[in-house]
Amino acid sequence: MEKKTTLDKVNALYPSLTTILGTKVDGKNNFITIAHVGIMNHGTPQHLSFGLNKSHYSNKGILENKVFSVNIPGRDLVVETDYFGIVTGKTTDKSEILDVFYGESENAPMIQACRVTMECRLARTIDFETHDVFIGEIVETYADAGVVNEGKIDIAKVDPLLFDMASLKYWSLGQPVAGCWNKGKELKKKLASE
Ligand SMILES: Cc1cc2nc3c(=O)[nH]c(=O)nc-3n(C[C@H](O)[C@H](O)[C@H](O)COP(=O)(O)O)c2cc1C
Repeated sequence: MEKKTTLDKVNALYPSLTTILGTKVDGKNNFITIAHVGIMNHGTPQHLSFGLNKSHYSNKGILENKVFSVNIPGRDLVVETDYFGIVTGKTTDKSEILDVFYGESENAPMIQACRVTMECRLARTIDFETHDVFIGEIVETYADAGVVNEGKIDIAKVDPLLFDMASLKYWSLGQPVAGCWNKGKELKKKLASE
């Protein structure tokens, strides 16, 4: 058996999905790139998690307004996505970079150019030493008709940006490999017949 290399406590849970959170801070729309995202459950209400360093400007808006948007940028928005992740609203107005639309709340600006966006209500905040982990409950999901097929989001058409910390690169999706809850049946059948 090949010997494994140890890497100390390196977080190997990549790639993750690159998102842009939208909120209103000090009366102005602000956008922040967030790739440390999680799916907390599967069902209704549906909860998602986002880990934001406490040093960021966006935290104030999310904590005050208790709403935010989660935008899924595609490959076509890689420049704007990276910009939102390297410039802070503390010193730079990021509100005019992309057109926005609104759902229920005026404090959760959503990016028109993102093919999929979710409006979230802040359900809970987990107070870590360095990070606020915001747990959002999805209020409504918006998508361009062109990426929806029989009521479902076609991920290939969304063409999301995947984030990898090791290479510090945005990656894209490859081809589908096999059907979930399906491919394993081959082994199940084989073992049952032995
Ligand atoms: C690809 C990418 C992913 C990022 N992911 C996170 C993240 O998950 N959590 C975090 O706290 N900061 C993350 N950042 C850093 C923030 O987006 C960045 O510091 C931003 O400028 C803060 O904006 P604000 O101060 O206007 O809120 C990421 C940056 C990039 C470029």
